[in-house]
Amino acid sequence: MSLLTEIDHVAIAVRDLEAAVDYYRDVFGAEVEHREVVESDGVEEALLRVAESYVQLLTPTRDTSPVHAYLEKRGEGIHHVAYRVADCAEALQAVKDAGGRVIDDQPRPGSRGTTVAFVHPKGAFGTLIELVQE
Ligand code: CO
Repeated sequence: MSLLTEIDHVAIAVRDLEAAVDYYRDVFGAEVEHREVVESDGVEEALLRVAESYVQLLTPTRDTSPVHAYLEKRGEGIHHVAYRVADCAEALQAVKDAGGRVIDDQPRPGSRGTTVAFVHPKGAFGTLIELVQE
């Protein structure tokens, strides 16, 4: 049985969060359900619900943010895919047991009161993966 129970969100790095929010509302009628500045990550996010999942529009709040570096290097676009899991620590351990590279050695607080951990894209076929426990 899969440890991944749902796609929690697809995160898209953008330079102008307001413009991106306007685009999703004007074009698709999608409304922001949650906004949050995550100071520890140097990002501001806007979450738009799509069925049981979210699109997460993500923009850096400072030049030292990893998302700032990402935008400089890769430009706007998909930044990471987040999978919902029942137990973040268990899923993270499964990655380690499989020899995968992790960014977070331990689960940590995410936005919306979630518990999260990131898996390094090197060893995950080029995609930054986030494990999200609600
Ligand atoms: Co995320």
